Amino acid sequence: MQAPRAQWGSRIGFILAAAGSAVGLGNLWKFPYITGLNGGGVFILAYVCCVVLVGLPVMSAEILIGRATQKSPVAAFRELTHPGSFWVSFGWLGVFAAGSLLSYYSVIAGWAMHYAYISLNGELVGSGVEGVQSLFGQVVASPGLNLFWHIAFMALTVGVVLGGVAKGIDRWSRILMPALLIMLTGLVVRAAFLPGFGEGLEFAFGIRPEEFRPESLLAALGQAFFSLSIGMGTMLTYGSYLHRDDDIMDSSIQICALDTIVALAASAVIFPIIFSFAGLEPGQGPGLLFASIPTGLIQMPFSGVLLATFFFLLVFAALTSAISLLEVPVSFLIDQFGWSRGKSAALAGAVITLYGIPSALSYVEGSALPEFLDKLDWVVSNLMFPVGGIGMSLFAGWRMDEALRHDHFLSGSKYRFAYNAWLTLLRFIVPVGIVCVFLNAIGVM
Ligand code: PFF
Repeated sequence: MQAPRAQWGSRIGFILAAAGSAVGLGNLWKFPYITGLNGGGVFILAYVCCVVLVGLPVMSAEILIGRATQKSPVAAFRELTHPGSFWVSFGWLGVFAAGSLLSYYSVIAGWAMHYAYISLNGELVGSGVEGVQSLFGQVVASPGLNLFWHIAFMALTVGVVLGGVAKGIDRWSRILMPALLIMLTGLVVRAAFLPGFGEGLEFAFGIRPEEFRPESLLAALGQAFFSLSIGMGTMLTYGSYLHRDDDIMDSSIQICALDTIVALAASAVIFPIIFSFAGLEPGQGPGLLFASIPTGLIQMPFSGVLLATFFFLLVFAALTSAISLLEVPVSFLIDQFGWSRGKSAALAGAVITLYGIPSALSYVEGSALPEFLDKLDWVVSNLMFPVGGIGMSLFAGWRMDEALRHDHFLSGSKYRFAYNAWLTLLRFIVPVGIVCVFLNAIGVM
C-alpha cells in the first residue's frame, strides 16, 4: 500500500520552498546582465509584464494540476488523461528536464561553494586583485576541484530531500530563505555607500528604449520562465503537497513577487560594485559573478566578510533551487515504483551526479566534451523550458476537466473574480508568447 501523500508542514513553508526554487542563480546572475544589455528600466517593465501575463498563469496552473492530483508530473498527467496519453509525455519531459538542469546547475553551485570556502579560510583575500581575476580560469580548469564540489553540492541537496517534505524541504527553506534575504539586504545597504552606486543603478534601471529590441521582449519571457521555475514540473510537484484549502493564486502572486524583488535587489548589488572599481566589465558569463564581483569586493574594507556573504548567498540560492529540481525525479520514483524516499533520493542523486560529470569537466583542458555545460544549458533553456511551459498551459487551459479546474482555482481563493481572465491567458496569450520565444531561440524568428 502507498503511504499517504506527504504534505507541507506550514503554508509559509510552501511559499518559501517555492520561492526558494524560483530564487536562484538566474536571479543573481542572469537577470542583472540581461537587464543591463537590453535597455535597463524598459526591460524591467517588459519583464514584469511577462511575469504577470505569462509566468503567473503558468505557475498557478502547474500548482493547480499538482494539487488536484496529489501526484508527481508523470502520474498526474496519467491520472487526468489515461495511461499512454500524449499528455503524459509532458510529465516525462519534466522529470528529464529537471534532472538535466540540476546536473549542471550543481557544477556552477559547486564553484560558489568553493569560493565560499576560500572566502572563509582567507585564501581568496590573500590572492590579491590580480590573483582573484585569474583564479576563476584556474578553478574551472581543475578536474579535481570541479568534481569534488559538484559531488559535495549534490550530497547536500540529497541530504535535504532525504528529510522529506515537511521535515526536509519545508524546514530547510524556512532557514535558508530568510538567511538569504538578510544577506542580500546587507549587501544592498553596503552597495548604497559605494561611489559607483548611482552609476550602477543607472545602468541597471535607467530607461534606454533605444537598447530595447524585439528580441529583448523574448529574452524577458525566456528569463521569466527560467527564473520562476515553471515548465519543468517543479511547481507541479510542490503543488501536490498542498492542502486542499490553500489559495493557489494568492500563493503564486507571493512567489512571483518575491522572485522579482530578489532579481531587482541583485542588480542593485552587482552593478554598483562593477561601476565602483575601474576596469570591471558589466559583461555576461560566469566571470561576472566569479571574477568581477570578487575583484571588486576584495578592494573594500572587511572584504573577507563581504566575500563570504556574497558566496553564501549564491550557495543558499542555488541550494533551494536544486532541492526543487531533485524533488521532481524523487517524487516520480516514489509514485511510479512505490519506493521509499531514501532509496529514490539516493538513486536520483547518484544518476544526476554522474550525468553532471561531463559538465564538471567542460572547461578542463583536453576535455572530451568541451563546453558541454553551455550546450546542455542551451537545450534546457531554449527547448525544454518552452515545450514544458506550453504543455502545462495547453493542458490546464484546454484539456483539463472544467469542473476540477474551476473547483481548484476557487477553493479557498480570494481571486475568484480572476478565473476567466486566468483561463483566457492560459488558452491564448501564454501559448502564443511561448511559441514566439521558441521560434526565436531556434533562429526561425
Ligand atoms: N529558478 C531558478 C533560477 O532562477 O536559478 C532555476 C530553476 C530552478 C529553474 C528550478 C527551474 C526549476 F525547476
